[in-house]
Amino acid sequence: MSDHSNTVLTAEGLIAGYLPGVDILHNCNFVLGDGELVGIIGPNGAGKSTLLKAMFGLVPIREGTVTLHGDPITNLPAHQLVRKGVGFVPQTENVFPSLTIVENLQMGAYQLPKSEVAGRIDGINELFPRLGERAKQRAGLLSGGERQMLAMGRALMMQPAVLLLDEPSAGLSPAYQGEVFENVKAINATGVSIVIVEQNAHRALQISDRAYVLDQGKNAYEGTGRDLLNDPKVIELYLGTLARR
Ligand SMILES: Nc1ncnc2c1ncn2[C@@H]1O[C@H](COP(=O)(O)OP(=O)(O)OP(=O)(O)O)[C@@H](O)[C@H]1O
Ligand SMILES: [Mg+2]
Repeated sequence: MSDHSNTVLTAEGLIAGYLPGVDILHNCNFVLGDGELVGIIGPNGAGKSTLLKAMFGLVPIREGTVTLHGDPITNLPAHQLVRKGVGFVPQTENVFPSLTIVENLQMGAYQLPKSEVAGRIDGINELFPRLGERAKQRAGLLSGGERQMLAMGRALMMQPAVLLLDEPSAGLSPAYQGEVFENVKAINATGVSIVIVEQNAHRALQISDRAYVLDQGKNAYEGTGRDLLNDPKVIELYLGTLARR
């Protein structure tokens, strides 16, 4: 995987943090190739969410560059990145519980002309038929797995080239987790390049083409999902018994 000529998203030498003078990312590097599914794992507080948020314009980048299709997008605001084809699904509060499913999907397309919205919703319902069956149901009544499906569907309304997912399986039962990972693979199969941050490191590495291990705001390891799953150091330090499923 050394040929990244078809990169979609890159981060080079990122130094970023929330508060002035307090760096959380200390020189992070990241590459997402066209059509790839790339995982980011690492201990709590490693900076995984911060890296996603920095690439999505939600955490100030002090040094380094983020590119999309080769063009610099460093520190562009999130709404502009959405228009350029970057979708982001945060870990929590990623749906509006009091709105219906169809209203949530419409919210994902607020930057689009009204005339295009219905067609986009049809597309999402084709990918996730269950959302179409429950269009009028309030999102707050969905199961955990369905809620993640809706959150991803909402991000897909803009037909992004890249989808950034922050711990989509967090807090779900193993059965629902399986469903989420299947859905992530299904989205990737439609041609959307995906970055997935996961606490369920085993499952994430199993579905990832490549992955990065982040530790204390720095790159620790990278490789194919399979290589990392079989790397004794990675197993010892990051996969342990807790993460096994
Ligand atoms: N809004 C914030 N303001 C200030 N510091 C923050 C903020 N969010 C996170 N941090 C700090 O940034 C560091 C990295 O946090 P981050 O959420 O990126 O880790 P993570 O790898 O996503 O962890 P987890 O696996 O627990 O989700 C932590 O030390 C955290 O306390
Ligand atoms: Mg996080």
